[in-house]
Amino acid sequence: MVTHPSLATTVGSLEFKNPIIAASGTFGYGREYEPSADPRVFGGVALKGTTPKPQAGNPPPRLVETPAGLVNSIGLENPGIAVVIKEKLPQLEDLASAGTRIILNLSADDDNGFVSMAEKCNQASPLDVLELNLSCPNIKAGGMHFGTDPKVVSKITSAVKKATALPIWVKLAPLVTDITVIARSAEDAGADAISLVNTLPALVVDVERQRTVLGNTFGGLSGPAILPFALRQVYMVAQAVKIPVVGMGGISCSDDACAFLLAGASAVQVGTAIFVQPDIAERICDGLSQYLLEKGYEEITDIVGRLAQKD
Ligand code: FUM
Repeated sequence: MVTHPSLATTVGSLEFKNPIIAASGTFGYGREYEPSADPRVFGGVALKGTTPKPQAGNPPPRLVETPAGLVNSIGLENPGIAVVIKEKLPQLEDLASAGTRIILNLSADDDNGFVSMAEKCNQASPLDVLELNLSCPNIKAGGMHFGTDPKVVSKITSAVKKATALPIWVKLAPLVTDITVIARSAEDAGADAISLVNTLPALVVDVERQRTVLGNTFGGLSGPAILPFALRQVYMVAQAVKIPVVGMGGISCSDDACAFLLAGASAVQVGTAIFVQPDIAERICDGLSQYLLEKGYEEITDIVGRLAQKD
């Protein structure tokens, strides 16, 4: 009888103590939720999207709640790579000592911007993964359109691969003609994993004032509303590539996380739900352990990709 199932998983050669990762843009630089939530509970934390130079972000309003989600248009506000390496990463030593993996999400206008940041990260610590954001819907240069063109995905991925020994995850936009083509181009160019999906392009309207609501007009939709679509994209990509997949999109409970793992994700990222339940990692880990016990599995990896077609 299984009594202590293991939640440990791997993404490529990298081990994670559990498969729950805080998604970039929802967990700051790892410390902001304390003391409401202990960041060391997460298997990994993906830090806010970082650019070569500091960015002020988009004009407000930047966030709008929807019936089953959140539309954001932050515009990658961040202090820039130099400050992140010098001031933010060193504050995460205790997370690293606790076995929480540190993932830095990078955005840039072109491949040179990605490469220069990756080179700087070679001297950075603690740091386990570079996640290349080829999918931000909220900036004009270097955003979502990168992740819709397999040639651009390939060019950026292979350039960064040559510049660093760190594992590279390529984060994809959800709304493309064929997500498997984009994922394969990242795999062929040397990506160590694919993370998907980023937010869905969205528009919010103030009917009374007959105006758009967000300061930057458009935003990205996250939260439970996008889960079935995200799950479909993750399932498709997991079938199409040999490298691991990190799934995300609307996960807010252990059953949601379980669905992504069954669909083929080796780990999952939780984002919008953190705003509502800062201690969500603990809840999901408890729920996953219970699921494994009930089903008689010894390890979380036993359920990865186990999804069968309906008879
Ligand atoms: O606007 C933002 O900062 C969001 C970034 C993203 O979705 O990649």
